[in-house]
Amino acid sequence: MITIGRIAQMREVSKRAREEGKLIALVPTMGFFHEGHLSLIRKANEVGDLVVVSSFVNPSQFGPGEDYENYPRDPERDRRLAQENGTDILFSPSVEEMYPQGHSTWVEVEGLTEVLCGKSRPGHFRGVTTVVAKLFLIVQPHYAIFGQKDYQQAQVIKRMVEDLNFDLKILVEPIVREPDGLAMSSRNLYLTPAQRREATILYRSLLRAKELVEGGERDAERVSALIKGMIAPLPSAKIDYVSVVDGENLRPLSKLTGKVLIALAVKIGRARLIDNILISVDE
Ligand code: PAF
Repeated sequence: MITIGRIAQMREVSKRAREEGKLIALVPTMGFFHEGHLSLIRKANEVGDLVVVSSFVNPSQFGPGEDYENYPRDPERDRRLAQENGTDILFSPSVEEMYPQGHSTWVEVEGLTEVLCGKSRPGHFRGVTTVVAKLFLIVQPHYAIFGQKDYQQAQVIKRMVEDLNFDLKILVEPIVREPDGLAMSSRNLYLTPAQRREATILYRSLLRAKELVEGGERDAERVSALIKGMIAPLPSAKIDYVSVVDGENLRPLSKLTGKVLIALAVKIGRARLIDNILISVDE
């Protein structure tokens, strides 16, 4: 595995790989790897000949007062895990390399970014799409792999790829969970032991909602009320949203039908946690 910090060198390596007919698979990350990231790297190994993992804590996707400064970082451990899981290139640019003085171009997807996390994190998806577009232009991948935990992010990026005619395929891999069901996230680190126990309710509430739907419930309001009713009593939890939306366009549903996404964001202590479940609902 080689570590690259400069855009020019990354471009050169990708150009050569493409000339040799190699398929490039990119896993964009903000580092601090957990099993969720490693599953994406393993997927990249299945589809690509050259596996590039980018590790960049992207300042432009954090709002004022969010956790950019404190976002967990452990580059040494990341290097070891990336190597052990089959990474060929770890692309780890500095902030100055990605956003040199004078940077003033932004990529913004409308509509899909105004709901769910976009409501309470204005500007967040603009930061994500800008950095991801830059990574696509630098690394020139054939495949880019994202996790389903950030379902809205994946939908937004798919939209951007289509609208800007990027010549690559987006793959979305299943959520990786702790044994007790909590979705893996770098931000789980912020939880105290008591909050960590509370956090298990998030996935349990999604499973209960799924059971309710499987039992015939089709009213979105009643499904989200069930989830809110389980989470609201937790001493450290503050619900940002619990939403039942169309799995493609993310528009709110009143009656469940087709591909349905039940998504939630909840602040537990210092950690803003997100989770979701996709259900296919018959009429
Ligand atoms: O999902 C993430 O870790 C980030 O949003 C991403 C896609 C690497 C962009 O910074």
